[in-house]
Amino acid sequence: MTIADLKPILVFDSGIGGLTVLREARVLMPERHFIYVADDAGFPYGGWEEAALKERIVALFAKLLAEHDPEICVIACNTAFTLVGADLRAAFPDMRFVGTVPAIKPAAERTRSGLVSVLATPGTVKRAYTRDLIQSFASQCHVTLVGSQNLARMAESYIRGEAVEDVDVLAEIGPCFTEQDGAKTDIVVLACTHYPFMANVFRRLAPWPVDWLDPAEAIARQARRLVPGTEGFEPLIGEDPAIFTSGAPDFSTRRLMQGFGLTVR
Ligand code: DGL
Repeated sequence: MTIADLKPILVFDSGIGGLTVLREARVLMPERHFIYVADDAGFPYGGWEEAALKERIVALFAKLLAEHDPEICVIACNTAFTLVGADLRAAFPDMRFVGTVPAIKPAAERTRSGLVSVLATPGTVKRAYTRDLIQSFASQCHVTLVGSQNLARMAESYIRGEAVEDVDVLAEIGPCFTEQDGAKTDIVVLACTHYPFMANVFRRLAPWPVDWLDPAEAIARQARRLVPGTEGFEPLIGEDPAIFTSGAPDFSTRRLMQGFGLTVR
C-alpha cells in the first residue's frame, strides 16, 4: 500500500469550528489527507428546527460520500451530531462516523465543586441526547446548560480578525458562572467546536478561573483509533481541500483556510 491508496478523512462542521478538531487530527494522523466541509449555507445550525436540519444533513452526506469516498467521517459539530448522528449511521451503514458530543462525562469526573456548566448552541442545549448524557454520567453534579445565541457567530468573526466586544462575549459566557452553598462552577464544557478559538478571551473575561474543557483532542484520538496505523509513511506535505456549501466563502475565510493548509474548492 502506498500513501496514494490511503483514503482521505472527511471533517464536517456547519462553519469553521471544525478546524479546532482538524488541527488535532492532523497531529495524530500526519500521513492522511483530509477534506474539510463547512455547511456555511446552513450556518448557524444552533437555531434550526430539528426535522429540517436532520433532512438537510443526511441529504448533504449522501452527496459528500458519493463524491469523496472518505475512509471515515468526523462530525466536528455538537449541534449536528447530537441530532443526526444515529440517522447518519443508519443511512450509511458502511461508513464510520466519529461524533462530537458535549464532554459532560469527563467534566463530571473532574469537577471538585460539583458545579459544571455546558456552553453550547441553543440546539445542543435542547437535545434529548444532551439530557441523556447528564442523566447517565452527571446525575451527582449540578449541571447548568447555557445555550448561546451569538457565540458561534462571534467566534467566526473573531477568528477572521474582526472586532468582537468584551461586553458582548461576557453576556454570553456570564450565565456559566454559578455559585451554590459556597461552591462555584469549576468546569465549563466547550460544547460547540467554534468556542475553543475564543478560549483565551473567555479566560481573560471569566469572573473566576475555571477549566474550559475542549474535546478536540479526544475526538481526534477516537478517529485515530478507527484508522489503521501506517507506520513508515512520511508525513504529508501539501494542501487539502475545503468545501463550502455556499460555494462562495469570503476573502478572510479563504485566507483562514490557507492558514490551516486548506484550499477552497
Ligand atoms: N460548531 C457547531 C457545534 O459544535 C455549531 C455552530 C452553529 O451554530 O452552527 O455545535
